[in-house]
Amino acid sequence: MSGVRAITSFGRRAAFNSRLAVNAPVCFAYARQYSSVQTRVAQFMGQKNANGNYTVSFIEGDGIGPEISKSVKRIFSAAEAPIEWETVDVTPILKDGKTAIPDAAIQSIEKNLVALKGPLATPIGKGHVSLNLTLRRTFNLFANVRPCKSIQGYKTPYDNVDTVLIRENTEGEYSGIEHIVVPGVVQSIKLITRDASERVLKFAFEYAQAIGKKKVRVVHKATIMKMSDGLFLSIAREIAKKFPDIEFDEELLDNACLKMTTDPAPYADKVLVMPNLYGDILSDMCAGLIGGLGLTPSGNIGDKCSIFEAVHGSAPDIAGQDKANPTALLLSSIMMLQHMGLYSHAEKIQKAIFQTLAEGKALTGDLGGKASTTQYTDAIISNLQ
Ligand SMILES: NC(=O)c1ccc[n+]([C@@H]2O[C@H](COP(=O)([O-])OP(=O)(O)OC[C@H]3O[C@@H](n4cnc5c(N)ncnc54)[C@H](O)[C@@H]3O)[C@@H](O)[C@H]2O)c1
Repeated sequence: MSGVRAITSFGRRAAFNSRLAVNAPVCFAYARQYSSVQTRVAQFMGQKNANGNYTVSFIEGDGIGPEISKSVKRIFSAAEAPIEWETVDVTPILKDGKTAIPDAAIQSIEKNLVALKGPLATPIGKGHVSLNLTLRRTFNLFANVRPCKSIQGYKTPYDNVDTVLIRENTEGEYSGIEHIVVPGVVQSIKLITRDASERVLKFAFEYAQAIGKKKVRVVHKATIMKMSDGLFLSIAREIAKKFPDIEFDEELLDNACLKMTTDPAPYADKVLVMPNLYGDILSDMCAGLIGGLGLTPSGNIGDKCSIFEAVHGSAPDIAGQDKANPTALLLSSIMMLQHMGLYSHAEKIQKAIFQTLAEGKALTGDLGGKASTTQYTDAIISNLQ
């Protein structure tokens, strides 16, 4: 990915730093089931290879990507997870003037049906579409699942956050359709289609069933965007009728922000589902409530292929220094194992991570510790049982 310049999201960076500056021991005392395996919309259909393992495509990514990827690989190997990694290079190529993923990478992910992905730097002002967006479009990863749960012992304003947010991942404000009407007047199209809305809304209900949440809430702004959000909302009402066991309701985006930051407890029994941009912003807000992007995993779910990734970026400021915290990528890899039905391996690795964090002896700098990525990884490996 050399030659690709990094966008710096100042807000994200500042918020991340301030959230992780808390100098307190960390204790993960939960074992969330991130599973989407029993859902009908996006079930993993991969098969074991001749060695009895699953092959998973691995996009190591830029910046700290190779370091945190190495940590995942070492821990998976020590835990004897039945996974063989197939490293793929997604350095973008231009095809007919458009950013595209190299064919070899597409073939690998289409064959394996699942990938783990490190962060990718987004070029700024170079005519490239974001590679992250390109991946979502290439593999039609229509739902982005972002769970956030409080970490006991890690001091944040609330200790009872337990949100699951599902973001439409392919259209909305991210459709990329923008043009200049006349100089000084630009237009950006928010695209909402019945097909994409139905797909993500159905997934949200099925995901709620799979993880044992009894309620689904659609977050919208149909009071203002009467046609676009109005369509999303009306489809949500239609789909809700097909899931009589799940309680359905609706909330305006601004109310949701106010209420979640005032008292997150009422959101613990729900799956929240919403159009693309709202999901992006609200999920970062939830990450802030639990202590930062560095602890937040995610899954990009498609009907055929799914890609799991940390929510944070490539952290170019600490790249190559053995300082990065691999926890978010590790928790994403646990979501991936659960998606693949490998529950016992997921549980084993998850326990070792939470124990290591709870002990607080080998924490990386972002969590107030002095350990290197390698030392933190060693500590997790020694806690594997
Ligand atoms: N999904 C993705 O691939 C993704 C997501 C966000 C940003 N990005 C890209 O990453 C690049 C850098 O973005 P940014 O600087 O705005 O955000 P960032 O998340 O990379 O970094 C923000 C701050 O958090 C720290 N940080 C992030 N992850 C960390 C970790 N695992 N351990 C310890 N500290 C960590 C960094 O050192 C930095 O100070 C940009 O090119 C951006 O487009 C990619």
